[in-house]
Amino acid sequence: MTDTVLVTRDAGVMEIAFNRPEKKNALTRDMYATVVAALASADADPSVRVAILTGVGTTFTSGNDIGDFQARAAGPNTSAASPFLAQISTMQKPLIGAVNGAAIGVGTTMLAHCDLVVAARSARFTMPFTSLGLVPEAGSSLLFPQMVGTQRANALLLLGESLDAETALEWGFVYRVVDDDALMETARGLARRLATLPPQAVRETKKLIRHGQPDIGPRIAEELALFRERLSSPEAAEAFAAFVQKRKPDFSRFG
Ligand code: COA
Repeated sequence: MTDTVLVTRDAGVMEIAFNRPEKKNALTRDMYATVVAALASADADPSVRVAILTGVGTTFTSGNDIGDFQARAAGPNTSAASPFLAQISTMQKPLIGAVNGAAIGVGTTMLAHCDLVVAARSARFTMPFTSLGLVPEAGSSLLFPQMVGTQRANALLLLGESLDAETALEWGFVYRVVDDDALMETARGLARRLATLPPQAVRETKKLIRHGQPDIGPRIAEELALFRERLSSPEAAEAFAAFVQKRKPDFSRFG
């Protein structure tokens, strides 16, 4: 069986790559668990100085696996994303997002917790929460208005509009945009630079920068509670069924 997440280490840099290209790197419970374990070990292991998140193939990640959403709506409804969000939002070491192609849902919101984001020209950021009958997660309802302004955050989170790489750069959502074939070289170059700096100074600087931001933990918890409720809503059921059946959803019967 292929590993759905590839974790490699080289000279102080841990690379974590979503590897389920046939499903556009949609994140399953097992994938979240592997990423959480990798990030936790990166934070704990003094030989790792920085981690990169990326996707194998032509997609960064199409977000949470919709089949898993449906299973949660029908069953115990425990969030696999919750430990991931707790881990990524409290990392002490720097995280770099290297985004190729589509970054959907949590694929975009996780980037708000990356210290540097490099986008390939093919990158496209979309948070289709409302059209899935859901609400935003990862603290994005608080972080995005702060990062890009309320009007733009509304376009992204209420309308679910897509952001292309150049616009993301203009809005300050990403640090750099590069040609697709230069993506990993650029991300690794930044990672190597961070990895050679004094590690404690880097961690303390990240902590100071994050201190300037609101405490995101309570908002993540509030979003997840609502998200959990929404997952078993009739609106979400219609959206998920439409995705699986490859048809347009019809929300006209809902009040
Ligand atoms: N969950 C489960 N399966 C997914 C998926 C997801 N989030 N995203 C893609 N897939 C699957 C598709 O069902 C399809 O499977 P199949 O080959 O068995 O039919 C396969 O991946 C390829 O996707 P497809 O839609 O055919 O590719 P595309 O290039 O036309 O579109 C996307 C790519 C990413 C734009 C599109 O798949 C998409 O919108 N995915 C859903 C994203 C989403 O809503 N995520 C949840 C956010 S909260």
